[in-house]
Amino acid sequence: MRVMVTGGTGFTGSHTVRGFLAAGHSVRLLVRDAAKVRRVFDPFEIGFADQDIVVGDITDEESVKRAMQGCDAVFHGAALVDMRRSMARRILETNRRGVDLVIGGAHRRGLPSIVYVSSISVFFTPGCGPLHPDMPIAPGTTAYARSKAQGELEVRRLQEEGAPIRVSYPTGIVGPHDPGMSDANRAIHSFFRQTGVNTSSGFQIVDVRDLATLHTVLLERPEGPCGYAAAGPMLSWPETYRVLDEITGKRVRRVPIPGPLFRALGSMGDWIKRVHDFSFPLTRDAMEYATRWPGCSAERTTRELGVSFRSAHETYADTLRWMYETGLLEARHVGRIAREGSREISSPEAAS
Ligand SMILES: NC(=O)c1ccc[n+]([C@@H]2O[C@H](COP(=O)([O-])OP(=O)(O)OC[C@H]3O[C@@H](n4cnc5c(N)ncnc54)[C@H](OP(=O)(O)O)[C@@H]3O)[C@@H](O)[C@H]2O)c1
Repeated sequence: MRVMVTGGTGFTGSHTVRGFLAAGHSVRLLVRDAAKVRRVFDPFEIGFADQDIVVGDITDEESVKRAMQGCDAVFHGAALVDMRRSMARRILETNRRGVDLVIGGAHRRGLPSIVYVSSISVFFTPGCGPLHPDMPIAPGTTAYARSKAQGELEVRRLQEEGAPIRVSYPTGIVGPHDPGMSDANRAIHSFFRQTGVNTSSGFQIVDVRDLATLHTVLLERPEGPCGYAAAGPMLSWPETYRVLDEITGKRVRRVPIPGPLFRALGSMGDWIKRVHDFSFPLTRDAMEYATRWPGCSAERTTRELGVSFRSAHETYADTLRWMYETGLLEARHVGRIAREGSREISSPEAAS
């Protein structure tokens, strides 16, 4: 298939593009910055012809149309992810218009395969049970969470009209080769650079390479509209730190903070952002996820699509190795990983 891709220079999108290419598809990238395409794909010896790159924006109808020309499928992985309060309006407008132009546009053109990256957190409300894609959509409180909820509502509306939209619902996405250090990778980085927090519930991640595999399967296989969770095993916070200790042979620094206190700090973060804005995700929303995460099972994804999700141990080991090799972390942070030297990092196609 020829697939129009948004977000191809981002974390999920770049792994997904590599997965599509490895499966024999061709892609056309809609990007904001053509030079970033080289920065992201040169290390993998992947080059793109001029006609495979359209410089534009998901909020610009003309460039979206140009990028879709001649394509028979669409992957929409672009979104503005930003935790600054001052960006609220822009986040809501960008992500809403992106869904309208890219997903809605693909449907209006009658494309037979449309893949959208949602988030399992669109179903999260404090105190809810285990998350799954058939739950009601929660409204969200931060602009980003609200934008994902609104996107989800629009996608559901189009699916009800019969649009062949296949949705992935990832938990926190972690893995190597992240061009911009997205949120979950940033959290892991901060456990080593600053400190971790031991609190209630736990941290559930999905390996970006397994998510890329799921996207290739969604592109090719299901008939009609559908949605699948993308999640590795749920680990409590103590289990998460135990895995990190095991991988590095060191004790990762963590401070115990009870859930209610952590949530109160999140509320304080929301309040401080009103007067002094910052991008660190110290928000009530983020602290609710961190302390009351009910877990999510991707058993149906594995059973129906044959996509499995690797252990957190493997994901963390490869991620820390990549952070060390790129200088994001030092030998004193990653211990055993630095002493054992480099090892081949598995590619998206090896993850299936
Ligand atoms: N990260 C997570 O833990 C997580 C969890 C659940 C769901 N998700 C969802 O997964 C998707 C990918 O997330 P990610 O973490 O991989 O994000 P990312 O690394 O920040 O990548 C986002 C991509 O979107 C592009 N983009 C942003 N605004 C754009 C615009 N106006 N026009 C065109 N492109 C634009 C960015 O372009 P540039 O390269 O030019 O910046 C980038 O390529 C998003 O839909 C996100 O909501 C993420």
